[in-house]
Amino acid sequence: MRTKVTVIGAGNVGATTAQRLAERGYADVVLVDIVDGLPQGKALDMYEASPVIGIDSSITGATDYGPTAGSDIVVITSGVARKPGMSRDDLLQINMGIVDSVTRAAIAESPDATIVVVSNPLDAMCHVAYDAAGIPSSRVVGMAGILDTARYRSFLAEAINVSVEDINAFVLGGHGDTMVPLASYTTAAGIPITKLLPQDQLDQIIQRTRDGGAEIVNLLKTGSAFYAPSAAVAQMVDAIALDKRRILPCAALLNGEYGVDGLFIGVPVVLGQNGIEQILEISLTDEEQSQLQHSADAVQGLVDDMARLSQNNGG
Ligand code: NAI
Ligand code: 2OP
Repeated sequence: MRTKVTVIGAGNVGATTAQRLAERGYADVVLVDIVDGLPQGKALDMYEASPVIGIDSSITGATDYGPTAGSDIVVITSGVARKPGMSRDDLLQINMGIVDSVTRAAIAESPDATIVVVSNPLDAMCHVAYDAAGIPSSRVVGMAGILDTARYRSFLAEAINVSVEDINAFVLGGHGDTMVPLASYTTAAGIPITKLLPQDQLDQIIQRTRDGGAEIVNLLKTGSAFYAPSAAVAQMVDAIALDKRRILPCAALLNGEYGVDGLFIGVPVVLGQNGIEQILEISLTDEEQSQLQHSADAVQGLVDDMARLSQNNGG
């Protein structure tokens, strides 16, 4: 039997993720959206490609959750982007409502699923999904670190003029300006990056990584990145569905690790069939630890904002 994956949100990230997963051939994919016709149309279009690609996966679209029943993995990409005139609070309030409702609907049909959260603001939305799902924190995991690290690895490979495959690195922390690229764990085939690049060039690459999402938005003008994000989500789904036990930077609920308690934040985890199999606590320099704490403080700010917003709403 194939793994069953539900992808909620048939927009840019959701549809591209569904396509990547369906084309791998090991999973049946259900694409869900609130806009009638959108998930059905995109899923049918993808399915009609399957004879050419040579895969027998089922890929279907729906606006209700019945067809998602019994999913092994649920990927949440539904949400809205910030529009002109919309405050950060407006965006937070809308997306927390969306992530809360889709999580409840999905988990009611698939109580054993592992949830991969993608919607932004990522770390805050992991909290919403975790609270709404009522499942162990090991089965709620956020995608951001793989994307941020992929951007960092791409820029480094280009600068050193070597294969992207040879660059190993971790970007930890929250998905935002406060993310923490770890120079001390960045190597090219095991060679410390600081031996291959001057510090000022490394600093420029770290800054470009921090601005990576905005760089794409400024180019696209009508949306945000989705090719690299969907590749990152598919890597996480592979790790869970195929029990690969990959060591990947993902948002996980910390319980004292790295001195952080009760917050989702990007850290290295072992990802396998049970979701987060282990949170790896690696030693950081004092500077990196203080940057991670600063990043955790920013995530805590969003969590506090969400509590205030739901209290104002009588929640
Ligand atoms: P998009 O606007 O193309 O797609 C969002 C989809 O969600 C739309 O099709 C919309 O109809 C759907 N939707 C809205 N409310 C819904 C509901 N209640 N139920 C079901 N579907 C609903 O946006 P895109 O580019 O696909 O991005 C999706 C989310 O992922 C955004 O929040 C974005 O900021 C975030 N993102 C996060 C990344 C990360 O690293 N964590 C990377 C890239 C995007
Ligand atoms: C990104 O980093 C929008 O979070 C998204 O591209």
